[in-house]
Amino acid sequence: MPHELIEKKAGLLGILIAAVVSVGGLAEIVPLMADRQAAAPAPGVRPYTALQLEGRDIYIREGCYVCHSQMIRPFRAETERYGAYSLAGESVYDHPFQFGSKRTGPDLARVGGRYTDEWHRVHLTNPRDLVPESNMPAFPWLAENLVDETRTALKMERLRMVGVPYTDAEIAGAAEAVRGKTEMQALIAYLQSLGRANRGN
Ligand code: HEC
Repeated sequence: MPHELIEKKAGLLGILIAAVVSVGGLAEIVPLMADRQAAAPAPGVRPYTALQLEGRDIYIREGCYVCHSQMIRPFRAETERYGAYSLAGESVYDHPFQFGSKRTGPDLARVGGRYTDEWHRVHLTNPRDLVPESNMPAFPWLAENLVDETRTALKMERLRMVGVPYTDAEIAGAAEAVRGKTEMQALIAYLQSLGRANRGN
């Protein structure tokens, strides 16, 4: 019985599982590689500014993605709550992307401009001050830490290598753009850019 054989030999089972998953993966990935539209920026989409980029790294460092997705699905319940559904071309400059799937908190793909900077500052310092029933952790240290300006230009150079169109002038001015800013300011600048093609500028 081939079935019994597969169930008894873990190695064989593993190989066959890998084969099945690969076929499924290839069927999804290969057509996308040929589809130029999937990799083209949506109209007007700009890369993150130096400060927003640093804020994005703080977002990743603090694990915000563990509770927040950035991917509005094309269903009415989603679009009525969060706005227009997400397009592939909106995240072409996101390396790595922050789509996520776990939603302990709301989707943040279009949170930019929904609240004021001050709202975010109070909320990140202690969410319960604004939303009493919130179970989001507080991140008070962000207001005390300064952004590390020494690596911003390097990050932008590396992103340029994978296709983000940063100019020489933007890279040269990167350290200056984030100098003296707190991590809180950087994270808020990033949040305010989400869902805005021109990054709020
Ligand atoms: C343990 C899960 C959890 C983590 C981690 C978390 N959040 Fe939240 N977040 C929530 C929940 C739940 C809410 C809804 C209640 C509220 O507004 O506080 C929320 C709400 C928000 C909102 C308001 C969204 C809206 O549309 O009203 C923003 C902005 C936000 N979080 C940003 C962040 C950022 C930035 C981080 C990382 C520094 C973070 N969150 C980490 C759970 C989390």
